[in-house]
Amino acid sequence: MTTQTTQTDNGTVKAAFQSEIHIVEQALEAVERLMYDVVNSEVEVLRDASRHILEAGGKRFRPRVSLLSFAATGGADLMTAVPPAAAVELVHTASVVHDDINDHGVVRRGRPSVNAIWGRTFALLTGDFLFTKVYELMAPYKDLNILLAQAATALVEGETLQASAVKNKNLNSEIYFRIIGLKTAALFKSGATIGARLSGATEAEVEALGEYGYNIGLAFQIIDDILDVVGDEAQLGKTAGLDAQQGKGFAAVQDDPIASVKQKLMEGNRLERARLQAHQLVESAVELLAIIPPSPYKDELVRLAHGVVERDF
Ligand code: IPE
Ligand code: IPE
Ligand code: MG
Ligand code: MG
Repeated sequence: MTTQTTQTDNGTVKAAFQSEIHIVEQALEAVERLMYDVVNSEVEVLRDASRHILEAGGKRFRPRVSLLSFAATGGADLMTAVPPAAAVELVHTASVVHDDINDHGVVRRGRPSVNAIWGRTFALLTGDFLFTKVYELMAPYKDLNILLAQAATALVEGETLQASAVKNKNLNSEIYFRIIGLKTAALFKSGATIGARLSGATEAEVEALGEYGYNIGLAFQIIDDILDVVGDEAQLGKTAGLDAQQGKGFAAVQDDPIASVKQKLMEGNRLERARLQAHQLVESAVELLAIIPPSPYKDELVRLAHGVVERDF
């Protein structure tokens, strides 16, 4: 670390905080470069479509969680955490490319989706290509590779359970939570766990950060599902209303099959209940960080957790 945060002079403390956060930003830039380089291919459409979705941006929430988990548990050289953080983000990127095929999304990250430009076949293959690049990045990481593979499996299981629930029209809140745990929270959990394991964190710290990731992942998807109902395309940078329309997301939950009309009337209340649940999950996530020693990285993890529910809507 370049400076100490223990000094009493406020100016010095602030400078130290900024330099530590700057290191995280530098590592995130390295994640960007690595993802961009790794998706190079002589097959033009794979390279162009991959770079199209990467260059469109995105919040990079998952690699941030991974890098901060590494740093908050004493990891010294943040650059060593860059390849797994990039791999986590590539799993996510592959999943949104495939998701837009399944959900008929035509706008993603403020740009036309891969399927909107190149069509479904090339979008399917681009998603496959991005998943195969994850193998390449994770090959040296043995146990951590297994963790990420399990999260990728969970993601596919969650998407499949969701498609089955839509088909069978039996989405209830229990199934909804099972789905979002698998399709979204598992990847957040693995990002945090991988970062912590790589730094040599204690078992208790690894456990706490994994649960932190899981909880913010659940909250993240609940908020995303609320935004799908109340947000618009310009604000979200992706096609809005798709999940609700297609019987996905919490808005499609039918705990009482005869109450559909009543449920529509109660929609405002259901939104509020979902928001409250997301807030509670974030609070639990922040409490889980109690065993992590104080540092600017831990502060950033807390800020990130609150950011999940403070998205503008
Ligand atoms: C979108 O994830 C898919 C969900 C799990 C809700 P993000 O909201 O993290 O997407 P980007 O990466 O910022 O575009
Ligand atoms: C995104 O799911 C993909 C995964 C979580 C695997 P959604 O369909 O809920 O997300 P958006 O709203 O299109 O980003
Ligand atoms: Mg979807
Ligand atoms: Mg979608």
